[in-house]
Amino acid sequence: MAIMTVTSSAAFLPVLERIAEEIGRTPGRGRPADYIPALAARDPRSFGMAVAEPDGTVYGVGEWRRPFSTQSITKVFTLALDLFREGDALWEHVGREPSGNPFNSLVQLEYENGIPRNPFINAGALVVTDRLQTRTGDAAGELLAFLRAESGNPDLDFDLEVAASETAHGDRNAALAHFMASYRNIDNPVPVLLDQYFRQCSVAASCADLALATTVLARHGVRADGTRLLTRSQAKQVNAVMLTCGTYDAAGEFAYRVGLPGKSGVGGGIIAVVPGRCALCVWSPGLDERGNSVAGVAALDRFTTLTGLSVF
Ligand code: DON
Repeated sequence: MAIMTVTSSAAFLPVLERIAEEIGRTPGRGRPADYIPALAARDPRSFGMAVAEPDGTVYGVGEWRRPFSTQSITKVFTLALDLFREGDALWEHVGREPSGNPFNSLVQLEYENGIPRNPFINAGALVVTDRLQTRTGDAAGELLAFLRAESGNPDLDFDLEVAASETAHGDRNAALAHFMASYRNIDNPVPVLLDQYFRQCSVAASCADLALATTVLARHGVRADGTRLLTRSQAKQVNAVMLTCGTYDAAGEFAYRVGLPGKSGVGGGIIAVVPGRCALCVWSPGLDERGNSVAGVAALDRFTTLTGLSVF
């Protein structure tokens, strides 16, 4: 099969159109997350995909301007925001090894003394949000302001219905937070932390918004306004943790198929980065058993195969 060489920006669009057409012909799209009841009614046939370039040019296909529930995708941005605030001290409280376990697993926490394996499993993300909360007094607000600025979309907001739905079914995250608090790895009262974390996860944004926000990692840590969020080295580190941990116990398979740093969410979105070149976001709400969008992974697999763009 011939590679579709992307020599100019506009050449991304035919690639995206071909992927959307192929995905449209593919049956078997997985099932929307139902452990958060407000997400259960989404149509697994929905599909959108966007590519954003470092200069803010963005292309898309399908429902690429339709907001969806970002969920765990936000963990990338809270990690970057906390690294900006506290630097490497964060890594005394959370590791950076793949867990090989589901995103909401409890099992490693006890024998690893309340230090979560990485910032992208729920336990690790709770630690990051807790630390950002201590530093800002409003972790979710800090995240929302960042996403609005980077996407250029002032209308981005929390979906309080989704946040309330998760709060009502949040026993697993509450257990993780209380357990880590018993090891003194959580500073804030657990109800305060959970409120921040569930609102963080509830942010509704489109593929266009998230591809644009993710260009901070394609620009090696530089924000849309030209200021620096992360050092070049920190941006490399965040991309590396996305590659090894961003899709949980499927991270090996994702790296094998897609070959890019990526981060999924149970709303069906996935962001991915081609450092120096572009950022991507794909959305389709049907998930596999590990919580990753079936059509989303397939679309990113096709993108890197068709264009030859990957980190390898
Ligand atoms: O905490 C949770 O379970 C959800 N708010 C987020 C989980 C998630 O998106 C995992 N990603 N695939």
